[in-house]
Amino acid sequence: MPLALAVPEIIFLDEVDSTNTYARTHFDDLPDGTLVVAKNQTAGRGRRGRVWVSPPGVNFTGSVLFKQLEDGFHAGCLLGVATLALLRELSPELPAYLKWPNDIYVHDRKLAGILSESTRIEHGKITAVVSGIGVNVNLPPEIIAQIDQPATSLFAETDQKFNLEIFSKKLAKQLIRYYIIYLKNSGAIFREWKESNLLLNEVITIVDSGGVAHTGIFQDIREDGSMELAVGDSIFLFQCGDVKIDPKSVDWQKMNLKATSKGYSKTFT
Ligand code: BTN
Repeated sequence: MPLALAVPEIIFLDEVDSTNTYARTHFDDLPDGTLVVAKNQTAGRGRRGRVWVSPPGVNFTGSVLFKQLEDGFHAGCLLGVATLALLRELSPELPAYLKWPNDIYVHDRKLAGILSESTRIEHGKITAVVSGIGVNVNLPPEIIAQIDQPATSLFAETDQKFNLEIFSKKLAKQLIRYYIIYLKNSGAIFREWKESNLLLNEVITIVDSGGVAHTGIFQDIREDGSMELAVGDSIFLFQCGDVKIDPKSVDWQKMNLKATSKGYSKTFT
């Protein structure tokens, strides 16, 4: 199906329960690739039933409607690589990278999280996917210090404030660019996504859905998005889980070089 995506469609809302919910509810009325952005979410959702809390007007919270994707995994890949490309555009020296299953990190701190949801299945095929992202943009260090997880923001990393409307418009452009690439060659998006998962080959701990922690070498990511963890001579496969980083076990100098525009091999530019 051809994509009429030359001009990105953006909907700016002052307040909504969740941009993912809004995108799901209005899915049939909005064009493919529309980005729904809210200044404030009253019931922002995270992965695995968690809440996503963000002070009003400070960070980016938005969701994209995908009408031509097969599943939530590919939607998350697309949104992940598009957001990473935007971060490189805004701040080329920022060593941001993708962290499986679909976060954006700087060093051992979370900058952004993605929640993808398949919203409709017809004749056994997914026909509607929504993918939402929360990016800590202008969150000040004193608020970050109150978060119970290692977190960061663009402001904390760069000492610069970013205009959220410009951020949204630029993200919408990157999304359209990557969506068009995906429709021509979906494998290219997966490859770029995998290449940007810089914890590959590092020692990590994954906490599975039952709360059990497994430590090993993050050996590979399969084409369906599942992670291969090598523990001794065995390979364990994970579809989901929370990856914990031991900051002491990672060579951050090497990671920084790979993550910044200097070391990053740009597949499409
Ligand atoms: C996670 O890291 O757990 C995923 C967080 C996803 C948050 C975003 S904010 C915009 C969109 N709307 C939501 O309710 N959730 C996603």
